Amino acid sequence: MSANALERHLALIGFMGAGKSTLGPEVARRLGREFFDVDQEIERAEGPIADIFDERGELSFRDLEAAFVAKACNRRQPAVIALGGGAVEGRELLQEFDVFAVHLAVDVDTAWERVQGSRRPLAREESEFRRRYDERRPLYEEVADARASDLEDIVLAAAGVRVALGALELLGGLVPGDGPVALVTDPHVGGIHGAAAQLALGDRLRSTHEVPAGEEAKTAAVVERLWRELRLDRTGTLIALGGGCVTDVAGFAAATYLRGIPWVAVPTTLVGQVDAAIGGKTAIDLPEGKNLVGAFNWPARTVIDPALLETLPERERREGLAEVVKTGLLAGEALWELPQQELVRRCAAFKAAVCLRDPYDRGERHILNLGHTFAHALEAAAAYEDVTHGTAVALGLRAVLRLSGRSAHVVDHLLAPKPVRVDRERAWAALQRDKKRGLVLLGDDGPRWDVQLPDDEVRRALDTLIAD
Ligand SMILES: NC(=O)c1ccc[n+]([C@@H]2O[C@H](COP(=O)([O-])OP(=O)(O)OC[C@H]3O[C@@H](n4cnc5c(N)ncnc54)[C@H](O)[C@@H]3O)[C@@H](O)[C@H]2O)c1
Repeated sequence: MSANALERHLALIGFMGAGKSTLGPEVARRLGREFFDVDQEIERAEGPIADIFDERGELSFRDLEAAFVAKACNRRQPAVIALGGGAVEGRELLQEFDVFAVHLAVDVDTAWERVQGSRRPLAREESEFRRRYDERRPLYEEVADARASDLEDIVLAAAGVRVALGALELLGGLVPGDGPVALVTDPHVGGIHGAAAQLALGDRLRSTHEVPAGEEAKTAAVVERLWRELRLDRTGTLIALGGGCVTDVAGFAAATYLRGIPWVAVPTTLVGQVDAAIGGKTAIDLPEGKNLVGAFNWPARTVIDPALLETLPERERREGLAEVVKTGLLAGEALWELPQQELVRRCAAFKAAVCLRDPYDRGERHILNLGHTFAHALEAAAAYEDVTHGTAVALGLRAVLRLSGRSAHVVDHLLAPKPVRVDRERAWAALQRDKKRGLVLLGDDGPRWDVQLPDDEVRRALDTLIAD
């Protein structure tokens, strides 16, 4: 069973006062789903819960609750469902319906502060409230697929993403199931973090495989080598430890080996932690172009340990900063100003939400290409050699900010990209091919992804990114 809510209901469970009804609608909005609050639905149909308790007793309330939970879970479209604090007592129901349950944790003092004096039948007396809290807490832990304490955490949990300092050391327990695993990494990352990963995987680890560092890993020959070296059966899981190149190639190998086995992404670059390891796109390159062969293959889990970025060379960090700025612009928040761990968490949650809304890239997910239409054109004109992806994205962001009528100050200030020396006509030809799907621009009420602008306006914007 995958450890995410992709195409499954997401149930919020937790004690009363945890914030399920408050956060639920916002989680649903972020995931592009309907919200169903079991307690509210009961009250709408049957009157106040306090009256049901008083008049019919707790047992008959629990029956009613089970019927409403079943009704919510029977919806065809995956929804976000807030369960009443006691609904987990009927936990067979959650197991019967294929529901991904997130425990929204709260400490008992905060919970009591939030609910005391309300009409909730079980919040009338503090000692009884605390007794129920102690009684139910282990139940939530037992039933939950993941635990969260705020909105971002819930979205990350829904995507199967775990962000925590020191998460690498916990890797063994974070790989779903208990079957054997194979580790794929590159020589740089393997040399620095490989031993810690091996230790964490313990005796589940069957083999370790090295792929070349950087884009050289993303070839059909490397995938074939992995297919032939792997000794896992279908109970096995592939673990990708590295930057976007390692997660792309290993994720693709996992999609195809034995017709598909689960994989876990452990991104070690900023690009990987805020972008490449989230959302299930995997790919390798062909001589004809980048990422031309691949698969949608959502990782069974993504384990993000921001501490791994400590060893990342500055050059690679700057590559990631361009994606951070892109994410902040899309989110409409200066995410780039946050301390590193929170920056990673917020950017990862943003990407996770977009990808959960559009897992197969059929519409809105295209917004993640902000600035990339120009970037790809510059990279193609330079035959991917002289222009780094980060510089190309930074220049692309500058162009789309100007085309959106916005200041490009943040790009100039944080990324300071210099125009690149590439052939103008080749860049224009590449851009025309790419822009058929429309440009992504920033509108007053958020990003738009299907904008068609007159050729001369786009050409002028491109020309400003190219040096003579
Ligand atoms: N699948 C997606 O959705 C997606 C999204 C964005 C990018 N990508 C892909 O990601 C790739 C780029 O990934 P990247 O920027 O992470 O580069 P990368 O994987 O090539 O890693 C960059 C370099 O940093 C080294 N490195 C990685 N982590 C390190 C660490 N913690 N300490 C020291 N060195 C470390 C690597 O060995 C490598 O030499 C591209 O191929 C791109 O197409 C994929």
